[in-house]
Amino acid sequence: MRVRLKDKDFELYIPRTRIDQEVSRLAAEMKEAGIGDRTVFVGVLKGAFMFFSDLMKHMPAGSRQEFVFARSYAGTQSTGRVEMQGLNTLALEGCDVILVEDIVDSGLTANYLAGQFQETGALRVRICAFLFKSEVYRGLREIDFVGIHIPNYFVVGYGLDYEEEGRCLPDIYRLLS
Ligand code: IMP
Repeated sequence: MRVRLKDKDFELYIPRTRIDQEVSRLAAEMKEAGIGDRTVFVGVLKGAFMFFSDLMKHMPAGSRQEFVFARSYAGTQSTGRVEMQGLNTLALEGCDVILVEDIVDSGLTANYLAGQFQETGALRVRICAFLFKSEVYRGLREIDFVGIHIPNYFVVGYGLDYEEEGRCLPDIYRLLS
């Protein structure tokens, strides 16, 4: 199956059934790691909106959900800079925090945010990414929970966009070269 977004063609890469399996597995892994009632989950918008909502359906009612907005991509490339909104209003002092990302690529966004959370007094910060391009990762922090490791493909769907298109696709597609 293929989709065309603006000037680019994409082919089906990870179907919804596999996504559901990995979300359930991740949720079980998190529970085993002691994540529960006192945890604060911070979703990174816009990309993480679908993954965050699927994952949170498995979490206990006492956990807290928050969001920040980050932008580092233009087209199919990272700009190398991270624009942030919403950091100032997060109250994370003394909290066990899980940063929830749609995808970790260079790691710039996740490492910067995790550092900021720690500076504002979070007790512990762990990173959860649905997709992880480990071969291009340049961050120092461990990615504690990973849905699926992928090569350095540009992907869309399940929250991820190409120039703001493709986010609402329920499956994940990769760019055809
Ligand atoms: P990083 O800061 O380089 O790790 O990039 C993280 C952000 O870049 C993600 O939250 C996405 O918004 C965006 N991004 C990275 N790779 C892709 C991709 O393959 N497709 C769409 N967006 C991506």
